[in-house]
Order: sequence, then structure tokens, then C-alpha cells
Amino acid sequence: MMDPDLISQADHIPVLLKPMLENISPVRGAWVDATFGAGGYTRALLDGGAEFVFAIDRDPNVFSLAENWVDQYTGRIELINDVFSNLEKYADSVDGVVFDLGVSSMQLDQATRGFSFMQDGPLDMRMSQIGPTAADLVNSASEKMLSNVFYFFGEERASRKIAKAIIDRRKQRLFETTTDLAKLVESVLPRSKPGQSHPATRSFQALRIAVNKEYEELFNGLFSAEKVLSSGGYLVVVTFHSIEDRIVKRFIQARTGKLYTTNRYLPEPNILPIQFTKITRKAIKPAASEISTNSRARSAKLRIAKRTDFKPGKNLTFDELSVPIVGEY
Ligand SMILES: C[S@@+](CC[C@H](N)C(=O)[O-])C[C@H]1O[C@@H](n2cnc3c(N)ncnc32)[C@H](O)[C@@H]1O
Repeated sequence: MMDPDLISQADHIPVLLKPMLENISPVRGAWVDATFGAGGYTRALLDGGAEFVFAIDRDPNVFSLAENWVDQYTGRIELINDVFSNLEKYADSVDGVVFDLGVSSMQLDQATRGFSFMQDGPLDMRMSQIGPTAADLVNSASEKMLSNVFYFFGEERASRKIAKAIIDRRKQRLFETTTDLAKLVESVLPRSKPGQSHPATRSFQALRIAVNKEYEELFNGLFSAEKVLSSGGYLVVVTFHSIEDRIVKRFIQARTGKLYTTNRYLPEPNILPIQFTKITRKAIKPAASEISTNSRARSAKLRIAKRTDFKPGKNLTFDELSVPIVGEY
């Protein structure tokens, strides 16, 4: 039975869908939608000509939202509750893999999921709803670790100040709720000016990334996608912040033979074989009209590459793809 609260939140608007479809046209064959969410991309792919979609999401809640439309596509869709770094377990030789990263509006808007500093809820933030919560991390990590998480995952310049304030507060009382933490961050940072984001934005983003091991997922997901894509298949990635986008950009640079050509005066080394060719020369950003109707689109970037027929390359290191590392937490 579908939770009525969830139904009202099923109005997640897919970001950058139009430019994606334009760049992969004509849509055909089997696709992996690695981040099913409200199914906006899956439906667009199926309606646009894809024969089959492996629809993956780590959040078990999202599939109940699809109950009222999924029957229209019987035999053309498989709903899979897992992380996308495991996509090789389900699919092989596909014509496209799409990642629309981060959290969905449904997850963000549901106070009980604990993603939002705007609503009071348990400090949870687990997309998969298993494993340690954000509260576990905030209440047990060392000051150094917390500071690293805020700095490297959230690009928060006041990371040390926030980490110290958390440790001091923890001595009196542990953190349980989103607003509890948001207020503490607000208390140590200057008030934001009009037009600036809320002071807790970066800290919350960093914690969410840590709790869900989002960078490891992305890193592994990209290499898995390379393995399951057949020749001519599309890799499509929509990112929402600069660290995420840099990882994808460097992956595509590496696999198109361009990662190590840093000096423009040197001839480009011939680093064949290459696993991808670029479809989008630069990242595509949403038009102003899309941003005005969907604020989530503000920082979105779309990158697309096409698989060649060379076999998958060797896995690169975190360092080579500029994946921030903070150690075990
Ligand atoms: C931005 S939403 C996707 C929205 C979707 N494209 C749509 O049109 O409705 C991101 C979704 O990806 C899921 N997700 C994020 N990281 C994941 C991962 N590593 N593995 C599987 N699902 C993931 C989240 O649970 C969330 O539902």
C-alpha cells in the first residue's frame, strides 16, 4: 500500500531530460537507469524508444511510488533495490547507462528522512535505510574526521570551527535531530546574506555524502557502467556539485585519452585504446527557463560519452579521478 504522504511528493521533476534525449536520439535497446527515483528518466527512455530499462535505486521507498504507472510497461522494466555500484550483477551489454546523482525531492522533502536542515526530523540521511546514520557519524567521529568530512566532501571553509563546536556540544548532549545540528552550525557561522545559501547547506551535503559513501559509489559506478555498455552505448551523468562533476569529467577525460595532456603546447600523446568518445564537448547546464521552474536544476550539469569497442580499461585510482578521501569513519 502506498504511503499517501509519498504520493504527494511524487512530483519530482527530472532535470536536464530534454538535452539528454536530444543527445542520445534515437533512443533504442536496453538501458540502466542507475538512479530511478520517481522514474522520470525511466519513463522518458521507455516512451522515447528504449525496449527495456533496468531501474536501480538504493532507496526501498521509491518503488511504491511507481506502483500506479509501472504496469503500463510490463515486460519492459525491472525494478532493482540495490546500489548502482552493483549494476554489473543485473545488466550486461546495454545501450545506455544513466546516473542522475544525489537525492530526490521526495527524499529531501520528507522530514523523517533527515536530509533537510529546513525541516525538523531525525538526523538520518541514509538513502538505503541501512547502516550508520548521520547522527551516528556526528556523535562518534573524531574532531579531525568531522572537519575532514566538512572540508573535503562539502568544501566548507569553516570545517574546523564546526567540528570543534560539535565536539564541545556532544559533551553535554548528543545530536538527534536535523534542526539541532543546523542550529549549531548557524551559531558558529556568520548569518547568510540575501541570495546566499543557508549556513548549514555545505555541512549537510558533506554529511549526506559521507553517510551514503556517495563518492565511492560514483567512482565504482562509472567503471561498472563502462563494463556493461556495449559498443556505441551511452554513458549519461547528471551531477549537482563541483566535486561530483570533477570526478565524472576526469573519468571521461581519462577514457577519451585526454587526462594526461595537461600542457597544451605538447603534442597529444597517442593513448589508444580509448573506451569512450565525448558526445558533450562541455558539460550542458540547464536553461534559465528550467531553473525558474525547478530550483533543483540550478547547479546541475550533464555529461554524455559514447562507448567505443575497445575492452574496458584498467581501474584508475581515487587520486587520478580527484576523489576526495577522508579515511574510515
Ligand atoms: C536525483 S534522484 C533521481 C531522479 C530520477 N532521475 C527521476 O527522474 O525521478 C536520485 C535517486 O538516486 C538514488 N541513488 C543515489 N545514489 C545511489 C546509488 N549509489 N545507488 C542506487 N541509487 C542511488 C537515490 O535514492 C534517489 O532516489
